[in-house]
Amino acid sequence: MKGNVLVVDDEPIVLKSCERILGAEGYSVSVAADPLKALEMLEAATPEAKDGYDIVITDLKMPGMNGIDFMRKLREKDPTLSLVLITGYPSQESIRDALALGIVDYLPKPFSPAILTGVAERAIEFKRRRASHDASAGGGGHDEDEMAAKLDTIIQKYKGKPGSLIPVLQESQELVGYLPPAVQRHIARGLNVPVSEVHGVVSFYSFFTMKPKGRHNIRVCLGTACYVKRAEEILQKLKDRLHIDIGEVTKDRKFSLESVRCLGACGLAPVVVVDKDTHGSVNPVQALDILKKYEES
Ligand code: FES
Repeated sequence: MKGNVLVVDDEPIVLKSCERILGAEGYSVSVAADPLKALEMLEAATPEAKDGYDIVITDLKMPGMNGIDFMRKLREKDPTLSLVLITGYPSQESIRDALALGIVDYLPKPFSPAILTGVAERAIEFKRRRASHDASAGGGGHDEDEMAAKLDTIIQKYKGKPGSLIPVLQESQELVGYLPPAVQRHIARGLNVPVSEVHGVVSFYSFFTMKPKGRHNIRVCLGTACYVKRAEEILQKLKDRLHIDIGEVTKDRKFSLESVRCLGACGLAPVVVVDKDTHGSVNPVQALDILKKYEES
């Protein structure tokens, strides 16, 4: 069993989907249709018991209590719990509050099975690290400490200089591969700026990502000039070959797939960008040939 998950959402379809997807991946999944019921379930379980929960995935808007207040109560009960927030269109305020509560990640609605299982894996890892951090009386895991030290070096390089946030985020993303909530919080603390400001910048610029990427990131342009030249067919071919959808990462973490709106190279339409390489005038068959080169590399 990979871990105990509690999913809290007032939409039965979300509960059923999570049960099915995570159950098939080896998680033990419990569900609750409202936060009060979930609190009863959590009260009955202790972190030490085999039915203690590792991850709580909760919706933001629910009857009786919102997701932020619910997570606040969970934090008081068990600081090692991994919390994941399901969001539709969250306000900046709710994002700020969720980040302050130390959520592992957001789960945007609607979400695909791969995105859900990816978040669950990270949440289990987060729980494991947090538990070992507590067990070692305040000393973090070696990898975690090393990463924090590298982030601090980046922060110190720019701290106090005007416009420091963007270069710090860029270098941090190069280092970590993406900008999860924990990294955003670390940067906010280091630069002494509100975490909501960091999140605002990360979500505004398309070159920042809060989701992990594969070793090769493929971007297919679906802007008008590319769309009329069969870009959607190219995207479909790549999805079929890689067995992933937009926003997902292959199981071996080699590829991730994104669609974008105009890469500023309309004269080369249709355009596919892999990492930093731009491929222009691509047809669906050539797209697979391009992919093959990276598969073999
Ligand atoms: S529309 Fe695809 S590059 Fe501009």
